[in-house]
Amino acid sequence: MNVKLIPISSLNVNPLNSDEYINALNDHECNKYLEIRFHPQTYDTVKEYIENLPDNVRFFKIVADIKKTSLDNDGKTKYLPGDRWVGNIKLGPINMWHKFAEIGILIFPTYWHKGYGSEAIKEVSNYAFNVLHLHKCFAGCIEDNINSIRAFKNAGFEEEYRIRSQYYINGSGHKDDVVLSKFNVNEATWR
Ligand SMILES: CC(C)(COP(=O)(O)OP(=O)(O)OC[C@H]1O[C@@H](n2cnc3c(N)ncnc32)[C@H](O)[C@@H]1OP(=O)(O)O)[C@@H](O)C(=O)NCCC(=O)NCCS
Repeated sequence: MNVKLIPISSLNVNPLNSDEYINALNDHECNKYLEIRFHPQTYDTVKEYIENLPDNVRFFKIVADIKKTSLDNDGKTKYLPGDRWVGNIKLGPINMWHKFAEIGILIFPTYWHKGYGSEAIKEVSNYAFNVLHLHKCFAGCIEDNINSIRAFKNAGFEEEYRIRSQYYINGSGHKDDVVLSKFNVNEATWR
């Protein structure tokens, strides 16, 4: 499994012009645990969001090396590597005084259950700890969002606490917000 994180900023917002991305943001299965579900998303709303990202937020495209098959001249199947945009991940707001940051992630539904979410969360927490020298990363996942809780646990996060009955989900009522976190155990001041 190989994923790369490509930084996105107001300078390179154009590559975000993809139907797959806008469709994922508006897809009920994909957005049912996200606050964006209340606002229909278009290329313009996404552009405005990226252009107004505060300085303490890092936003990345997740690109996976997905092997494509094609037939050789002699009829044998060969595998060609191909970078495919599979989702986005956000680190922030970053608090540089206390050295913590929140993580948010979205993988396009076509690419779910292939391990890309877990890998991207690992990559972004490595960046937070090894490049930004943060102390802690965390994420809030609604208790029914099992895929998300699993992906964070696969990436080494542990449940730290729950905010009880915090979010109202249509058809299921109020649900806990499960806060998962991971610490930079390599830093000198770790305790
Ligand atoms: C949550 C989300 C990011 C997870 O991404 P993902 O790429 O599907 O996650 P992963 O594949 O890494 O892992 C999630 C679970 O998928 C399943 N899975 C992983 N690899 C798999 C494979 N090769 N085959 C089948 N299932 C697999 C597993 O159940 C895995 O957990 P497990 O390894 O503990 O069993 C994605 O579902 C998503 O974008 N959801 C919508 C937005 C959202 O809810 N974001 C999170 C807000 S906190």
